[in-house]
Amino acid sequence: MKYTIAVIPGDGIGPEVTNQAKKALDAIAEVYDHIFLYEEAQMGACAIEATGNPLPDETIKTCKNADAILFGAIGDPKYDKDPSAKVRPEQGLLKLRQTLGLFCNVRPVKAYDSLIKNSPLKREIIKGTDIAIFRELTGGIYFGKKEVSEDGKSAFDGCSYDVEEISRISHLAFKTAQTRRKKVTLVDKANVLETSRLWRKTVTEIAKQYKDVKLEFLFVDNAAMQLILNPKQFDVILTENLFGDIISDEASVIGGSIGLLASSSLGKRNALFEPIHGSFPQAKGKDIANPLASILSAAMMLEHLGLHEEADAIERAVEKSLLLGITTEDIKGKNKYPASTSKVGDFIADYISNQEDSN
Ligand code: IPM
Ligand code: MN
Repeated sequence: MKYTIAVIPGDGIGPEVTNQAKKALDAIAEVYDHIFLYEEAQMGACAIEATGNPLPDETIKTCKNADAILFGAIGDPKYDKDPSAKVRPEQGLLKLRQTLGLFCNVRPVKAYDSLIKNSPLKREIIKGTDIAIFRELTGGIYFGKKEVSEDGKSAFDGCSYDVEEISRISHLAFKTAQTRRKKVTLVDKANVLETSRLWRKTVTEIAKQYKDVKLEFLFVDNAAMQLILNPKQFDVILTENLFGDIISDEASVIGGSIGLLASSSLGKRNALFEPIHGSFPQAKGKDIANPLASILSAAMMLEHLGLHEEADAIERAVEKSLLLGITTEDIKGKNKYPASTSKVGDFIADYISNQEDSN
């Protein structure tokens, strides 16, 4: 089959990690007889430099017309250091999420056996952890009303949610839980926030349609602690935009490196796949960044396109690279000599190409 993939390399290490994901996809295309047509588009700091706009119309068009979107990373220290900058790279990603209605962000967190040593957490605490975080992505404080007073001495960010926004992601979370360990934990701050109370009420109602799934509630402060104390208690975590952003970075420690965490952002018509890590500007162009989160995002993309065997082939290759210690320097595995970004990508692509021999 032929698939059109919009590729947005973005900023920092985005281009180099996305290139490795493309290598893996090319190997898949070869072995399974598909055609992946890449349509490259700009977003973020690089788009501001080139066009003055973090999300050019051309990029939106390319994304809308594609079967799926593969995205690298966004952000540049130049803008982080200047809080008064009016145009910022991150606005590009936020606007893309909003324009395409990518309301459901899924972030799987798994403790790979071969990486357990890398986590600062104890082996017995994390072994066997397997969580799917469902983060609402187009509502809440990220997209509420924003204001700065004229004298610049006060600022305002509003947080709002409605039943429809809560319901659509909740149904997806419950449906996923039905295929897993049948538990949904709603993470909120219902002891303080009205929006959280609306989440609880709405999700409690929806849960009645999924009688085989157990629903639990946790306040976000407690959830942050439980994730470190006993992450195995979680199956599907359902939460709003800002809480999901924070606890998913925290949860990445369980996997041994944030360089491993992939994600999908799903809308009614479009789907985007991206690593959860940022643009890691210090590593830009050095060929040292971990490409696995981007490669695993490509696997999630294949899964979404219904190419399950193909997605498995990528995951097997990633597991093999971890097992053999062919990993970048963020993963202090058996290998004293870390591999470069492109070496890891080459290994994954070669392993996919030769899997029939090696299985
Ligand atoms: C993420 C990132 C983004 C977010 C930034 C870059 C806007 O941290 O995808 O988690 O906060 O959603
Ligand atoms: Mn984040």
